[in-house]
Parts: sequence; structure tokens; C-alpha cells
Amino acid sequence: MPKPLQLKLKLGERSYPIWVGQNVIQELPKFLGKRKSKKVYMLADAKLTQAHDEISKLLFVKGIEGHLILLNAGESLKEIDATYPIYAELLQKKADRDSVILALGGGTIGDVAGFVAATYMRGIDWISVPTTLLAQVDSGVGGKTGINHSAGKNLIGAFHQPKLVLCDTQFLKTLSAREIISGLGEVIKYGITFDPKFFHFLQKNLFDLIQLDPGTVQAAIQRSLHWKSKCVAKDELDRTGTREILNFGHTF
Ligand code: GLY
Repeated sequence: MPKPLQLKLKLGERSYPIWVGQNVIQELPKFLGKRKSKKVYMLADAKLTQAHDEISKLLFVKGIEGHLILLNAGESLKEIDATYPIYAELLQKKADRDSVILALGGGTIGDVAGFVAATYMRGIDWISVPTTLLAQVDSGVGGKTGINHSAGKNLIGAFHQPKLVLCDTQFLKTLSAREIISGLGEVIKYGITFDPKFFHFLQKNLFDLIQLDPGTVQAAIQRSLHWKSKCVAKDELDRTGTREILNFGHTF
């Protein structure tokens, strides 16, 4: 099994570690153990029952108070009427300004959980645990959070960086072939855009990637996030055009 890797997104005071590899979820209790408040609100894809259980056990062992808020992943979660009840649940479960939100799921869960973290009580900390390949190599990192408006996607939102990102490759095992290929599209984009050597590595190892070979998939996520982190560090607020390059393949 390859050794997990740690990258750092360098944003001065807002810098944070990004762990990539098998079982990096084990970093969670270590990180939370150092925080003053021991209350965690897990905004999680309702389908990921095994992951909820695993995280709940990790928190319990460390004496951390964990609360689970189940969400139905998908674009409809990003409608304001679907997001609004999450605030009521946080209030009812007594989340305070020192609590931390943990986003567990794919892109829509991360967008919404990050947005709730950005706005609940004027902003609280959050941890990103992306569980799809696409979210691990893109939306789970970089602090873009938001919901949709009937006039367009992501028109309501905030830049709110997480405190920690855990890209645990064990969560990829439950993905469908379609979801793996969709994530690989994004990985290949990093190769085409920034890194010919990486692109050749991907060409050579495509079969292993599709099969989710642990070493190959970890290397691919790590290299993708190397480039994503560089773009975000240069243009956090998407103002100078550097970060816009990341939209090659979706917006363009
Ligand atoms: N998904 C593109 C970005 O984070 O800027």
C-alpha cells in the first residue's frame, strides 16, 4: 500500500493540509483533537452509510461529539429551499461558532456544506472529505462554495476555505464506472493543461486508473491537486484568470 501524501494549499493564514491516500480519514481525530471545541456536524450524503459509521466511531473513540445530518446528494440539494432546513438542524442540535462542519460526499454535498459553513453564524470552520474522484481532484479543494439560483448555477455563494481536506481513496471503491470516468476526465484535463509528463503517465496507466489501483490513483490525485493548489494559491478569488483555466473542460 502506498504511503499517504500530504500537500499544502498555501494561502497565508488560510493555508491548509490536503491528505491523499488510503485511510487518510484516520487524520481526522488527530486534527480535531487539537481543536478547542469538540463538536462536529457531519453534513453527509445519506447513501454513504459505511463512511458515516466509520467516521462516527473515530470521533467516539476520541471523545468528540459528532452529529449526523443526512442530505440527498444531487443538483436539487443546491436549491435554496433544500439548503434552508440545514440551518434549522444545526440550530436545533446546538451548533455554535466554534463547531466544525464536515462535508462528506461528492461535489453537491461539498458545495452546500461549505456554503452553510460560510454563512452559519457568519461563518464557521469546515473540513472537506470529498468521496468522488471528481470532487477529490476539483471541487473538494479550493474553497468555492455555493448554491444555485433559478437564473443560473452557483450564483449564490462564497469563497470559504476548509481547514483540512481528506481525499481518502477507500471511498472511491463504491463509485460507478461512469463516476470514475467522469473524475478521470478532470484528471486528464490537468495533464493536458499543465503537465505533458503527467499526461503520458495517464495514457500509460489508464487501465490501472480505471481499476482504481491504489498507487496509480493516489499518484493521479496528488498530481492533479498539485496543479489545482498552485492555481488557487495564485488566484484564490478567481479574479486574475489563473484559476479560470481550471474551468477548461466544464465551463469551456
Ligand atoms: N472548479 C474550478 C475552481 O475551483 O476554480
